[in-house]
Amino acid sequence: MFQADLPELPELGNLFAPDEAIKQAQILASEAFGADRSWFLVNGSTCGVIAAIVATCSPGDKIIVPRNAHQSVIMGLIVSGAIPIFLNPEYDPTWDLALSITPKALEATLKNNSDVKAVLLVYPTYHGVCGDIQSIAAITHRYNIPLLVDEAHGAHFEFHEALPPSALSMGADLSVQSTHKVLSAMTQASMLHIQGDRIHPQRISQALQLVESTSPSYLLLASLDGARQQMALHGEKLLTQTIELSKLAVDKIKEIDHLSVLELKEKRPGFHDLDITRLTVNVTGLGITGLEVDDIFREKLEVTAELPMLSHLAFIISIGNRKQDINKLIDAFNTLHNYFRSSANSRFCSSPYLLNPSPLTLSPREAFFAPKKLVKIEQSIGKISSELICPYPPGIPVLMPGEMITHEAITYLTKIQQLGGMISGCSDSTLKQINIVIN
Ligand SMILES: Cc1ncc(COP(=O)(O)O)c(C=O)c1O
Repeated sequence: MFQADLPELPELGNLFAPDEAIKQAQILASEAFGADRSWFLVNGSTCGVIAAIVATCSPGDKIIVPRNAHQSVIMGLIVSGAIPIFLNPEYDPTWDLALSITPKALEATLKNNSDVKAVLLVYPTYHGVCGDIQSIAAITHRYNIPLLVDEAHGAHFEFHEALPPSALSMGADLSVQSTHKVLSAMTQASMLHIQGDRIHPQRISQALQLVESTSPSYLLLASLDGARQQMALHGEKLLTQTIELSKLAVDKIKEIDHLSVLELKEKRPGFHDLDITRLTVNVTGLGITGLEVDDIFREKLEVTAELPMLSHLAFIISIGNRKQDINKLIDAFNTLHNYFRSSANSRFCSSPYLLNPSPLTLSPREAFFAPKKLVKIEQSIGKISSELICPYPPGIPVLMPGEMITHEAITYLTKIQQLGGMISGCSDSTLKQINIVIN
């Protein structure tokens, strides 16, 4: 590995003036992922999402964004100075899950804001939930603006028919994919793809120079080429095995009393398709939280969840998993059930920012750069946050710069922390104090 950690040699090329091997590898990637042009990223989808916003919005331009967007979107708003128009996604109270935004809500928002410069969609969500992207793309294009898709969790879609269709195949103008999350690239290695003529490639290249190192790691770049080759040559076969393993896990875990598994029974607003390789198991019937289950699984049963939440846990079943992994997971849920067979009161609370979104008083950029001061958490209610605070994972902000701090948001964050969840972004990690904007 150390011998392969090379600098910009003539044969390898330069990421910011692609020629030689890098140029060829990016062309092969665009062919494999169905794009007109692809860029390799060495700072995760985070830098791709920021660059997508910077390339399409100037300071003061409006962009439509779902409220359950990842924190990288908020960072893109801060860097670009774009003004977000937040759309609430559909919400499933049984699962305590944010779904997708709907075409109807988008249409209504665009009618009232004809000067919007771009629409950003999260497709799929962390839990594999996909909205009606085809209709969303068609509506967006009627206004002749680009649809930018945060497809961080969907890099595998292009390679198997049983998975939801890829964003580009449904008409998206741009997609950003964490090749390192679902395919085999090394951590931080991602891709940005575009198609059509609504986005100027030069603006993407310029925006990426703003957010990436001038010394990109050639190990990461090579791993992107390797992941592309693996998918182009063997993707369908590998994913067929993965999908079979996922189906096995769904069938066996949903047979266990008091547990349920997220499935798409029929299409509904905000929930048009589901990536079966995301396994989400609701544990509230056992009277414990997903965070507690995660601790038991890791400490006692050698199972690690991707995303433990209050009411459920989500797992990613990937091309790297084998049948013994799935059997271990099924056994762990059986053991858990035998231990906690009651259906005591559940102790989770739902996500307040989805139910009671609080209005933006300042733009994320204004709030980020405004003078601030630390106050006790109980004195912050009703004030404007200058921090971006979220449970991580999933990295969806409960509070963002410019948003009014509500009692519900503080209660939710405190509860997650008390139950052992990880909260990121707060200057005081104990969450006793918070930075507010001084006005
Ligand atoms: C929906 C979504 N978008 C973007 C990102 C950022 O991706 P990366 O970790 O590759 O920077 C994540 C990371 O978890 C995510 O969940």
